[in-house]
Amino acid sequence: MGENSGRTILRSEALLKYILETSAYPREHEQLKELREATVEKYKYWSVMGVPVDEGLFLTMLLKIMNAKKTLEVGVFTGYSLLSTALALPADGKVIAIDPDREAYETGLPFIQKAGEEHKISFIKSDASSTLNDLITDGPFDFAFVDADKENYGKYHELLMKLVRVGGVIAYDNTLWFGSVALSDDDEMVEFQRQGRGIFRAFNSFLATDARVELSHISIGDGLTLCRRLY
Ligand SMILES: C[S@@+](CC[C@H](N)C(=O)[O-])C[C@H]1O[C@@H](n2cnc3c(N)ncnc32)[C@H](O)[C@@H]1O
Repeated sequence: MGENSGRTILRSEALLKYILETSAYPREHEQLKELREATVEKYKYWSVMGVPVDEGLFLTMLLKIMNAKKTLEVGVFTGYSLLSTALALPADGKVIAIDPDREAYETGLPFIQKAGEEHKISFIKSDASSTLNDLITDGPFDFAFVDADKENYGKYHELLMKLVRVGGVIAYDNTLWFGSVALSDDDEMVEFQRQGRGIFRAFNSFLATDARVELSHISIGDGLTLCRRLY
């Protein structure tokens, strides 16, 4: 038996490929697939910013299980997670989506429209910290998905703890930061990995001690942390 066999089964590239090909791609909504392909076409390498297909399916299912009606999206890009969210909301559901980059949102918009989901979305072209401060009267929200400027996750957490209802969920993306959070200081890393590693190790440790939330750190995509507000 190899080092990684038996009970310690690592999430390998091969396992991810298997999940995507067997369960995720065949279940991907047609317009999500079109949006994903248009994103690759326009943004090439940077299309990697969109959440992967298995994570999109997870978000859609989570929101349906929660019966979420009103949600927040912090960091939109071309809208893969946004459309995954909108598809899960009821016809009168609402998602407020915040991103300073309208051009990226407009790249995905034709597919959101084709899917018949645009009416659920209010896009705000802005920086999230200033906007979240003004949303108190629009709340409370059932769910928030945070996938934006990583260095501000701590700040967003405090703001979202006021906006998301007790029992609601705040989800933070990229909390495994390309696996770098598990590396040691001496391991080889490129600069963006080392920077993000510091940010996420501090943020993950902070969340682990935050008694206001129930926590689940999931190894999907680049790491997703769910915080269910307790009080
Ligand atoms: C990783 S992408 C989001 C990907 C998206 N969840 C998806 O599935 O396609 C990060 C986005 O955060 C946005 N962003 C960066 N700083 C921000 C800020 N201060 N407030 C809101 N959004 C921000 C960027 O413009 C970028 O579009």
